[in-house]
Amino acid sequence: MGQTCERSSLACVAVSSKEIRIGLLGFGNVGSALAGQIVSRSEAIAERTGISLSISRVAVRDVARKRPGLDKRRATDDPAAVVASPNVDVVVELMGGIEPAKTLILSALRNGKPVITGNKELIAAHGAELFAAADRAGVDLLFEAAVAGGIPLIRPLRESLIGERIHRVLGIVNGTTNFILTKMAEQGQDYTEALAEAQALGYAEADPTADVGGHDAASKAAIIATMAFGQQVTAKDVPREGIDLVSAADVSFAKELGHVIKLLAVAEDHDGELTVRVYPAMIPLTHPLASVRQAFNAVFVEGEDVGRLMFYGRGAGGGPTASAVLGDVIDASTNLLQGSHASIGALGKMRKLPESALRSSFYLNLEVTDQPGVLAAVATVFAKHLVSIESMEQAGLGGNARIVFITHECNESDMKRCLSDLRKLKAVKRIVSTLRVIEDR
Ligand SMILES: NC(=O)c1ccc[n+]([C@@H]2O[C@H](COP(=O)([O-])OP(=O)(O)OC[C@H]3O[C@@H](n4cnc5c(N)ncnc54)[C@H](OP(=O)(O)O)[C@@H]3O)[C@@H](O)[C@H]2O)c1
Repeated sequence: MGQTCERSSLACVAVSSKEIRIGLLGFGNVGSALAGQIVSRSEAIAERTGISLSISRVAVRDVARKRPGLDKRRATDDPAAVVASPNVDVVVELMGGIEPAKTLILSALRNGKPVITGNKELIAAHGAELFAAADRAGVDLLFEAAVAGGIPLIRPLRESLIGERIHRVLGIVNGTTNFILTKMAEQGQDYTEALAEAQALGYAEADPTADVGGHDAASKAAIIATMAFGQQVTAKDVPREGIDLVSAADVSFAKELGHVIKLLAVAEDHDGELTVRVYPAMIPLTHPLASVRQAFNAVFVEGEDVGRLMFYGRGAGGGPTASAVLGDVIDASTNLLQGSHASIGALGKMRKLPESALRSSFYLNLEVTDQPGVLAAVATVFAKHLVSIESMEQAGLGGNARIVFITHECNESDMKRCLSDLRKLKAVKRIVSTLRVIEDR
């Protein structure tokens, strides 16, 4: 670190900015974009903040590979050496995965070095342990980039909204699935076609499971819920359903019923008990999240006094994600120089809402026999299980007859029993699909 200026005027800061040397673990999409931003903006950052940023060491797996923007003399394949280096003040972890990232971060924190990471998987699995280690060391562990890439969300939740009573957070936090669902809704593509296009454009991996199966969104949901409600929620606490079973027919019925289908991270507080889940849901076209198209992300927060807030932008990509990392780097550097740090605060154990108390509205798509009396038979089963109908559409004829319903909010276990009884009806050939429906409240 450079010398601390005795006076606090801007002029003083500009002439004697304090140097912060970064140890960068990972030089992939985000790491290389961060390096580029630091090089091109370091002067402006120094003028504005009094901090002169430089990257002193970089860890990669393959040191031999040519990488524009990386001075080979600074590169190593030993990330532990970067963390331990006396020439590193702040560690930025952009490798991903649980290990060795976790061990490296704990080691940096133990040595009094603030850490910035974009590693959602790690924070969602071991956040509480890592936050405690940062608190013990009295330095920052910041992870703005871990959820919704370039969109400022973690800092608003942990700072601006810390005093707010948040009731519900709805997030479109996976760009790949939002891209696929947008293609299905707007171009009539089926799931396989839309996935293939996402893969061709680089939005989806060759193995898309982490995205389409909801795993990535579940990690983000856990982090959002932890920040919003102050309880320790891990990815394992988040039941998830992916979008692989969403059909072109569902998307088209959604449209007819004035809705659109989105993969949502849903975190709700019910008087201190939480539900945190990931599932594809229909949302009304009037809801602000309905307009979030393509690979964009948005997180919709409902608070008691603040009302409804929406954070919207690019949830992934090297540049946007690195921008969030850079903000954290400057914040952590400022705190380091001032000998302070931003604590997450006390986190309670997660208190889960019992399954029997879960409530939702539903969309049901039933393939039925084309005979009189079908509707009455179905309505009788609905009434028996206290499920009331908000809207209904009939489609197709003969062997292809369909009835689709949107129900009012009902108990989810009542809906399970209702579906089981519907399966027993002669008039119902099969339940083609069910989806939850988010109300625009
Ligand atoms: N990409 C995004 O849009 C995005 C958005 C939000 C959050 N994130 C998170 O940001 C992190 C980085 O993502 P990314 O897309 O930049 O990943 P990436 O392109 O796969 O880059 C990973 C980098 O880490 C290096 N690395 C991995 N394991 C290593 C090890 N054991 N030792 C040394 N170096 C190692 C790799 O080295 P080689 O280059 O030699 O293989 C590579 O440079 C992840 O946690 C990710 O979840 C990414």
